[in-house]
Amino acid sequence: MSKQWWKEAVIYQIYPRSFKDSNGDGIGDINGIISKLDYLNELGIDVIWLSPVYQSPNDDNGYDISDYRGIMDEFGTMADWERLLDEMHKRGLKLIMDLVVNHSSDEHAWFVESRKSKDNPYRDYYIWMDGKEGSEPNNWESCFSGSAWKYDEATDQYFLHLFSQKQPDLNWENPKLREEVYEMMKFWLDKGIDGFRMDVINFISKVDGLPDAELPEGRKFAPGGDYYMNGPKIHDYLQEMNEKALSGYGVMTVGEMPGVNVEEAKLYTAEHRKEVNMVFQFEHVDLDSGPGGKWDLRPMKMSALRDSFTKWQQGLEHEGWNSLYLNNHDQPRMVSRFGNDKEYRVESAKMLATFLHTLKGTPYIYQGEELGMTNVRFGSIEDYQDIETLNMYREKVIENGEDQDLVMNSIYAKGRDNARTPMQWDDSEHGGFTTSDPWLKVNPNYTEINAEQAMDDPDSVFHYYRRLIALRKENPIMVYGSYDLVMSYHDKIYAYTRKYEGQTMIVMLNFSDDKPVFKLPSDYESAGNLLIGNYGVESGTDIREVELRPYEARVYLMK
Ligand code: NOJ
Repeated sequence: MSKQWWKEAVIYQIYPRSFKDSNGDGIGDINGIISKLDYLNELGIDVIWLSPVYQSPNDDNGYDISDYRGIMDEFGTMADWERLLDEMHKRGLKLIMDLVVNHSSDEHAWFVESRKSKDNPYRDYYIWMDGKEGSEPNNWESCFSGSAWKYDEATDQYFLHLFSQKQPDLNWENPKLREEVYEMMKFWLDKGIDGFRMDVINFISKVDGLPDAELPEGRKFAPGGDYYMNGPKIHDYLQEMNEKALSGYGVMTVGEMPGVNVEEAKLYTAEHRKEVNMVFQFEHVDLDSGPGGKWDLRPMKMSALRDSFTKWQQGLEHEGWNSLYLNNHDQPRMVSRFGNDKEYRVESAKMLATFLHTLKGTPYIYQGEELGMTNVRFGSIEDYQDIETLNMYREKVIENGEDQDLVMNSIYAKGRDNARTPMQWDDSEHGGFTTSDPWLKVNPNYTEINAEQAMDDPDSVFHYYRRLIALRKENPIMVYGSYDLVMSYHDKIYAYTRKYEGQTMIVMLNFSDDKPVFKLPSDYESAGNLLIGNYGVESGTDIREVELRPYEARVYLMK
């Protein structure tokens, strides 16, 4: 397995709308990010993944792009962006940009042309079809509720949109469209960026003919994933993208890939295949969903989480590479979902951080995670902004009369606005994020949970992350070591070893508020050096049997 800078890096995701507002309009912006680079440097991260900052009408907060080469007015100017890159590089930070090319905005010039007539030169930049017996061309459901097709009167055809109606899917079958994408990528690469995070990149190749999918009972539209996830030409497209755009720049790539399994991920990330460096897979964030999808809440067992991570750790052990995340701008806050955001917020946030940073792969931190920021519960649907949430609410409550409280509960658990409430910088009004009304309300717990408080407190989640990140730099075993489970039968303790160049590291994690007992396998010496832990431990403590405290984490380097 080769050594690479992106394997050793820790990546921090910024969702610019919610990070820091510098001009008092209630919306985060590029100058706001620049003002916080020293904060990020202190944390010790190496790379920033910046969610989209391109021109966009913001139907999906920038994931609907109307100009791939322009900066969104609300975020600043190209000169501001260039200054950001410069200020980052000066501090030794790398920048990866979001690449959203499964779809564009319907306000993109290509689509404005495309919809004009069937013989427009841009017609085939998108996916147009005739209706079938007076309705949609097929029964696929949009990821944001309702049909994945929208009728367009001008030409009496439908266009495909796997996301919102304002996000028409691009037609990757068209070589001209592919060339345009590669040119656009080179435009940013030539400005000196360090890589791309590729939005739903495994959706770009659709099965020929776009056939109907199997319709689950009682549903109007069918999840059509089998016909567009990991489609027939996806590997060809990614290899072509490497050859024509990425090669020669030495940048990193991570592909967001819902529905990818380990075998597919190996194909995507094996180094010799030259596709992407790593993928964001979704298996562990789907464990608490039922057959009805993400809003269909199910309890999650730690053992299921462990089985899933173990499968991925072992599956990509020799070939490929994992990306490690427990939350991002689409997922609820990790401490609320996998930890205990009440009695043990600080302990469980640190335990989960220990988990992510001691697995094999590249860890991703989502803004605010380093403070132990939590989910939010707004009293009214009016306070929510996310299109996925609002469409689902409209369909379930308003159109189908489903129980409003149940639907609100699923929003509290899974809604994307949980992650998008503004960064909590201090305890001043609006958490120091802005001086006017923020575009999305700040979580009321900002008075206790905020960066200023965390930086002042040596025991904070922030300082724990700082130590973890520094440790990873000093201990290549944390990056390259092999992974094996310990006590794989236990339902509360998740423990494993990492091994590298004759060294062994043991990680003990208590995923509960009980006090289960960790037992060291007999093949290890009793003593080791405690590298890090989230509770005080007396030096020289015997670790053959350890009663772990609620959400306790300990990492030992064995003698
Ligand atoms: C995945 C992105 O992470 C999400 O925020 C977005 O809504 C969809 N792709 C569509 O671009």
